[in-house]
Amino acid sequence: MNNKLLGDTMGTELMRIGVSLPNTLLDKFDEIIEKRGYSSRSEGIRDSIRSYISYYEWMGDIKGHRVGTVAVIYDHTKRGLSNALADIQHNYSHLIKSSVHIHLDHDNCFEVIVLDGDGEEIKELAESIMALKGVKFSKLTTVASNEKI
Ligand code: NI
Repeated sequence: MNNKLLGDTMGTELMRIGVSLPNTLLDKFDEIIEKRGYSSRSEGIRDSIRSYISYYEWMGDIKGHRVGTVAVIYDHTKRGLSNALADIQHNYSHLIKSSVHIHLDHDNCFEVIVLDGDGEEIKELAESIMALKGVKFSKLTTVASNEKI
């Protein structure tokens, strides 16, 4: 049995899981949870998973006419990645109004893609980019195009 029952908090069973992470990622995570004052690494991980879930649930609500951006940081030296990113953008060229590319350092690029079109297609485009190996950061932001701010 992998998952061990640890206790009961408000009717929710706590499950123990084992996760393998690169040490650099864990060091960075520990640094952040210490700064933010989390009492334990588990608490930080629970919070991160909640944010991850709410972000993807939020993505599920992107419908109708939207304007937005996808910001991406990726390693252009990863074989095939630049081509894969270009292929995706050509497949959705009807949504893309503009893009900005900054060469961050020897390996890393920062790209912001400006979008205007169907929300579900915008989400598809963003998910295709996020799924690429070598993409280190990606963030989708959208707003309903008729929303008054
Ligand atoms: Ni570049």
